[in-house]
Amino acid sequence: MAPTVVSSWNDFDPLKHVIVGRADHTCIPPAEPATEAKVPEDSDMRGLWGPRPLETIEKANAQLDHLVSVLEARGVKVDRPELLQWNQAVHTPDFSTGTMFGCMPPRDVLLTVGKEILSAPMSFRCRYFEYLAYHSLMQRYFDEDPNFRWEQAPRPRLTDASYKAGYFDDITIEERLKRTASLNFVTTEHEPLFDAADVCRIGKDLFCQHGLTTNRRGMAWLQRHYAAHRVHAVNFPGDPYPIHIDATFVPLRPGLIINNPNRRLPEDQRRIFEANDWEIIDAAQPAHTEPPPLCYSSVWLSMNCLVLDHHTVCVEASETHQLEQLDKLGFEVIPVPFRDAYPFGGGLHCATADVYREGKCEDYFPHQISGTRIE
Ligand code: ALA
Repeated sequence: MAPTVVSSWNDFDPLKHVIVGRADHTCIPPAEPATEAKVPEDSDMRGLWGPRPLETIEKANAQLDHLVSVLEARGVKVDRPELLQWNQAVHTPDFSTGTMFGCMPPRDVLLTVGKEILSAPMSFRCRYFEYLAYHSLMQRYFDEDPNFRWEQAPRPRLTDASYKAGYFDDITIEERLKRTASLNFVTTEHEPLFDAADVCRIGKDLFCQHGLTTNRRGMAWLQRHYAAHRVHAVNFPGDPYPIHIDATFVPLRPGLIINNPNRRLPEDQRRIFEANDWEIIDAAQPAHTEPPPLCYSSVWLSMNCLVLDHHTVCVEASETHQLEQLDKLGFEVIPVPFRDAYPFGGGLHCATADVYREGKCEDYFPHQISGTRIE
């Protein structure tokens, strides 16, 4: 019988096969509606665009390669994306932009649900063709595994109708927080949009962060597509840049989630976890007060850990508080230096995408509570 190559239902069962990104040729893309939303006002990236400095790419690649060796030493098979020259303009019938982005964070674009890997309909024009970096891997999995489902969500058009014009003109952090808390985001509901990294996979239930990169129509598309699953909308007031769920709400093992204490899940949305005896605890504070230079993400990449199984977790090596918290929770904690890679697209979870984890599609939430479900 041909082997199963692709299967993963959650982020905590034993990891056996994973994709780890690469930093080569990564660009800071020119401003566009989606990146305007993502780059903080005071970021050192404002106004810059083009290829990132070579020495920073080399340092990031050294840490990505080290992560690969840590995983391989643990018996995890690792694949890498194919390199593309990201410093090329993108033209479609609907838009043009000056460069692409990169392929350090496969988690943003590749959503693995069971035997399927889906390329997400991302809201960034610069990331429109990013899935091509994974094309030859998908082709190989398709050839090797007769049950692998190679999928792509409807390609978005990303015309100006997909964004609220002037959304971020001269707004204060307080105003951003007000808007994000009231579910007023830069993307419109014109077409389905989501990033794979906004989807937290917990067996039969998929919890999607409604934010700057995922809209309700994207979640409705996911619910129709994964008809046997239950898709839930969650949001996290307190985050002025709600982009990707994995520095906010991170399942560690069945029954246990760490939540960013500055971005707590609202009471009404916690009920489904409480009703099914899942514990949501505050994540430890980050060890750093600032992200590294030219970085899109916040200091909360501290909690962006890669769980290898119910007892083992990789955490960024300098994140002493997070290391200690996970150690106290009974995990074997593997420290992995990764801060030089952060500016290229995030932490250890962002830089990976699941191909195979042991385990089945479990129903962890048999007591469904109304309030979060996408119908
Ligand atoms: N958007 C996430 C953060 O920076 C990754 O916290």
